[in-house]
Amino acid sequence: MPFEMSPFCCWGLPMALLALIVCPGSGEEAFQVYMWPEQQVVKLGGSWEVNCSTSCLQPEIGGVETTLSKTLLDEQPQWKLYRLSNISEDTVMYCYFTCSGKQVSANASISVYHPPEQVLLKLQPTWVTVGKSFTIECRVQAVAPLENLTLTLLRGKEPLHMQTFGRSTAAPQEAVITHNSTAHKDDGRHNFSCQAELDLRSRGGGIIRRTSEPQVLEIHEPGQDNQMVIIITVVSVLLLLFVSSVLLCFIFGQQWHQRRIGSYGVQAAWSRLRQAYQA
Ligand SMILES: *[C@@H]1O[C@H](CO)[C@@H](O)[C@H](O)[C@H]1NC(C)=O
Ligand SMILES: *[C@@H]1O[C@H](CO)[C@@H](O)[C@H](O)[C@H]1NC(C)=O
Ligand SMILES: *[C@@H]1O[C@H](CO)[C@@H](O)[C@H](O)[C@H]1NC(C)=O
Ligand SMILES: *[C@@H]1O[C@H](CO)[C@@H](O)[C@H](O)[C@H]1NC(C)=O
Ligand SMILES: *[C@@H]1O[C@H](CO)[C@@H](O)[C@H](O)[C@H]1NC(C)=O
Ligand SMILES: *[C@@H]1O[C@H](CO)[C@@H](O)[C@H](O)[C@H]1NC(C)=O
Repeated sequence: MPFEMSPFCCWGLPMALLALIVCPGSGEEAFQVYMWPEQQVVKLGGSWEVNCSTSCLQPEIGGVETTLSKTLLDEQPQWKLYRLSNISEDTVMYCYFTCSGKQVSANASISVYHPPEQVLLKLQPTWVTVGKSFTIECRVQAVAPLENLTLTLLRGKEPLHMQTFGRSTAAPQEAVITHNSTAHKDDGRHNFSCQAELDLRSRGGGIIRRTSEPQVLEIHEPGQDNQMVIIITVVSVLLLLFVSSVLLCFIFGQQWHQRRIGSYGVQAAWSRLRQAYQA
């Protein structure tokens, strides 16, 4: 941008009087240039209007310099209103005016964001015994800027785990957090949820919050478990004892019977053998 120093701030009597009011000291800027708004957050792909203005009563030239596509919507000698469209990345733009051959510029910044549209919460497993661990996973699709996102896992209203994300590209990205927790007795009485919060205040925006659908955890108490296990064990052992005693009785009975038949058999064979020998 050309930058020329003019020896005189203004010309003409009214101008000179104005210069005395506007310029507090000699050699200082005789006029101001403003860009409004100075800072703005715009949804990815969206458009925005900026007003580039000056205090110079009769500026020679002026306008906005930007890499974004711009349309002049309206103008007056002291201001120009533009629409910037298809805003796809963070950008700084300049507003300039030339007054009496001297150029002054101002800048404004635009940050793009993509709101958390869908927050998905998953409990794994959904059926847990008290004292056993389970995993909570929260997933947010396409969100930007990631460094201004905070994900909070909640049990009822109580935050269990909170996570922020580091710097990343301006393009929307998926954010995922997993947290391992131990099942408590009263976990089944609360809804689990995940809250995504995009804090754009430092960029001239607001706070966008989105919460997942609530999820419930089915809690199983080991007390009931133990009683059931004991009953089943006792019943099984008794049944086993009964069955094995019946079986043993049967086997021993058979063997005793066979031994008796067996010994008679041997005696008979022996006497047959003796008779044969004697014959
Ligand atoms: C642009 O800004 C100037 C100076 O603040 C103001 O006078 C003018 O009305 C604004 N134009 C629009 C369209 O808002
Ligand atoms: C919008 O910007 C993107 C990337 O800068 C470009 O690919 C696309 O063609 C633009 N769309 C329009 C309608 O200008
Ligand atoms: C924008 O203007 C401010 C002062 O108004 C200045 O501090 C800053 O460096 C400028 N930023 C850019 C990128 O020119
Ligand atoms: C948002 O991100 C900007 C740029 O990284 C950072 O300066 C600012 O502190 C962040 N604000 C919050 C509230 O996270
Ligand atoms: C959670 O537990 C699983 C296995 O139980 C393990 O693979 C995973 O790394 C743990 N995650 C965290 C964040 O501690
Ligand atoms: C859990 O969420 C469901 C569905 O939103 C709701 O009907 C129920 O009252 C909630 N329970 C508690 C304990 O907050």
